[in-house]
Amino acid sequence: MRGISHLGGTILKTTNHGRFAAKVGRGESHAIDPAILQESKRNIESLGIDGLIVIGGDGSLSGASQLAELGVKIVGIPKTIDNDLSTTDLTFGFSTAVSVAVDALDKIHTTATSHGRVFLVECMGRTAGWITLYAGLSAGADAILLPEFDLDLDKFIAFLDEYMRTHGSAVVAVAEGISMRIKSQINETAAENQMVGASYKLMHMIERQYPGKFELRNVILGHTQRGGGPNAQDRILAKQFGIAAFEAYEQGKFGQVVSLRNGQITTVPLTQDVNVVKSITRDNPVYKAAQSLGVYVN
Ligand code: F6P
Repeated sequence: MRGISHLGGTILKTTNHGRFAAKVGRGESHAIDPAILQESKRNIESLGIDGLIVIGGDGSLSGASQLAELGVKIVGIPKTIDNDLSTTDLTFGFSTAVSVAVDALDKIHTTATSHGRVFLVECMGRTAGWITLYAGLSAGADAILLPEFDLDLDKFIAFLDEYMRTHGSAVVAVAEGISMRIKSQINETAAENQMVGASYKLMHMIERQYPGKFELRNVILGHTQRGGGPNAQDRILAKQFGIAAFEAYEQGKFGQVVSLRNGQITTVPLTQDVNVVKSITRDNPVYKAAQSLGVYVN
């Protein structure tokens, strides 16, 4: 690992797509074909691989869990920009993605102010709004729209109307997962399609219901949030998780995933909550901070 901690992406070119996919989508796990699992086990043995440290989100860790059940020596490490794993308080990748989104939101503020526009800036995160909430609060977004809660469009428009009257421009951090809450004609078929373009759908919906009321623009940050090198916080968490995973492996704690709980690094069974999405709740301190500061949060 020496010398690569400043790099993002995958070095080994591994993937959780294809035949060995345990993609869980919205919390559901998919059982990998037992023949494929057996083949994987045989390949691992014939290659002389003792065991695996599997780094990834719910899809990768679900796959790891299924392979671990066959007796393959596996320890998991939670890594996703979405920070949506119930098994840990924090995943690495999240902090860097938030930094990317903050940088973008800061830049959008400049042009939104210059032109008196409403900007809808879409952040990733699948069905969870962690990146949107943290980036939105950090970058001073005027409104934050999260997938965890219903969106009352009339209330939101009333807020925007008043805000534009008093401030002249607005920057809204929109979680891609809010798409599930938007009823529109666009992208209504495939579940995955519904994710991408939430800000686009919302913009069109506002324009259709309130034609000409605002000058609207949308920006989809997309995969920029997954690019570049990791920031300092992510590098440190990744190193701590890496050490904990090797220690767990050496102690024979297979079928476990490392986890950050109340500031302490520990391990929990891979089977525990690996498919349960960690969602934002109304009593989340960061959510409450946004509310206290007068940010519109749905
Ligand atoms: O889980 C990470 C993530 O980047 C999500 O935030 C996003 O919805 C999804 O992956 C995008 O997946 P893909 O790269 O397959 O388009």
